[in-house]
Amino acid sequence: MAQRTPLIAGNWKMFKTGPEAADTAGRLRSLVADIVDVDVMVAPQFAALCSVAEALKGSRIALGAQDVFWEKQGAYTGEVSAPMLKAAGCTHIIVGHSERRQYFSETNETVNKKVKAVFEEGLVPVMCIGESEAQREAGKTFSVIEEQLERGLDGVDHAGLERFILAYEPVWAIGTGKTATSDQAQEVHRFIREWVEKAAGNSIANSLRILYGGSVKPENIAGLMAMDDIDGALVGGASLDADSFAGIVRPCSAGSA
Ligand code: 13P
Repeated sequence: MAQRTPLIAGNWKMFKTGPEAADTAGRLRSLVADIVDVDVMVAPQFAALCSVAEALKGSRIALGAQDVFWEKQGAYTGEVSAPMLKAAGCTHIIVGHSERRQYFSETNETVNKKVKAVFEEGLVPVMCIGESEAQREAGKTFSVIEEQLERGLDGVDHAGLERFILAYEPVWAIGTGKTATSDQAQEVHRFIREWVEKAAGNSIANSLRILYGGSVKPENIAGLMAMDDIDGALVGGASLDADSFAGIVRPCSAGSA
C-alpha cells in the first residue's frame, strides 16, 4: 500500500438534489482541507454534477460520474457521453457498478465499451467488479472476478491501466451492513492484483489502485486499509453525510493519530 496514494470515493447513487449535493460537497471540502496525502472523489447523480463542480472548484476533491454511455453524441435519449461529463468537470467515471449490472442490464460487454470510451476521453475509469452471495457460496468468487476482468478489459491497451482504478464490491456487502472481513477483501484484492500483474506486468500492477466497496464506515476503514492490497474505498451510504465521509478519509492519512 505504501507506494500508492489512498483514494476514498463517495458514490452518492440516486440521492441528493443539486443544491443538497453542493452543500455536502462544500462541507466535505472544509472538513478534509488539511489532508493532502489522501485522494478524495465524489460521484453525484448527473443533474448535480455542475453544482458540485462549482462547490469543489479549486479544491483537491475530484468529481466523478456514476455511469456513461459509450457513444460521443447522437440520438440516444437519456444518455450522457464521456466528453459531456468531462466538460461538466468530471475526471473519473464509475463503470459497471453492480446496481447497474443488476437493475439496468449492464453486462461485461457494455462495461467494456464504456471503459474504452472513458479512456479515449483521457478520463479515469473506476471499474466495479464483484461476486453475488450465491456465487460466493458456490465457490465461484475468483472465476466471476476473472471473467469480469477479462471481458471488461478486453482490447484495452494495458499501458493505459496505469491510470485505471478497480473497485472490488462484493454484491452481498453493498448496502447490507455486511462488510467483507478485511481478510476476505484482501484475498480478492490480491487475486485481482496478480491478474493485472500477469496481464500488464509488475510495475502497472504495483501502481494500480484497488478500492474496496460494501458497507465501508468510519469504524471499519482502518482495518481494511491495513491490508496490503486495499488502496482505498468506494463508499455508498456512509459518504452521504460529510462528517461520516470525512471520518473515513481521515484515518487513511499518515498524519492521523
Ligand atoms: P454501501 O457503502 O452503501 O454499502 O455502498 C457501496 C457501494 O455500492 C459503493 O459504490
